[in-house]
Amino acid sequence: MVTRFYFLSKKMAEDLTIPKEGSKEEMYESLYPQLKALTEDEPDLIANMANIASALKEAFGFFWVGFYRVVGDQLVLGPFQGPVACTRITFGRGVCGKAWKEKQTVIVPDVDLFPGHIACSSLSRSEIVIPVLNDGDVRAVLDVDSDVVNSFNEVDALYLEKIASLLKF
Ligand code: SME
Repeated sequence: MVTRFYFLSKKMAEDLTIPKEGSKEEMYESLYPQLKALTEDEPDLIANMANIASALKEAFGFFWVGFYRVVGDQLVLGPFQGPVACTRITFGRGVCGKAWKEKQTVIVPDVDLFPGHIACSSLSRSEIVIPVLNDGDVRAVLDVDSDVVNSFNEVDALYLEKIASLLKF
């Protein structure tokens, strides 16, 4: 089965095709070139963050997908898909703050076992956060939450890092 969904860009409707029954790798392999094509001619950071969040939510059915941008000494909520979320996160705090501070992807198999986890929703059970870098500086993070424990592994880390690197600052 193939699921089609549509994006409206300034030029035209974009049709992304995702194999819903493939392996995680197959789904990311299918999604990545489509996201690359969708973002490469669009210089606006927020527009590209918005479409990436939408595509990941639609393709994988994650509970929450979104970006926080680095603004001064805080992360500020950016484009996202899912329930309303915490607006600001301090450097080093929570999973997002840890990914920012350490400049590394953080996978949390069970949020209840992560000291300092910031629970924007009690339904979130596992999480992955990818730092989005530009010239060695973290400019944003991509946060993906699941309502099931153990949802994320190195495959997600690999492809989400690749997807995050599509963003231009
Ligand atoms: N759980 C995150 C906060 C952001 S929400 O999950 C959307 C954290 O601990 O940093």
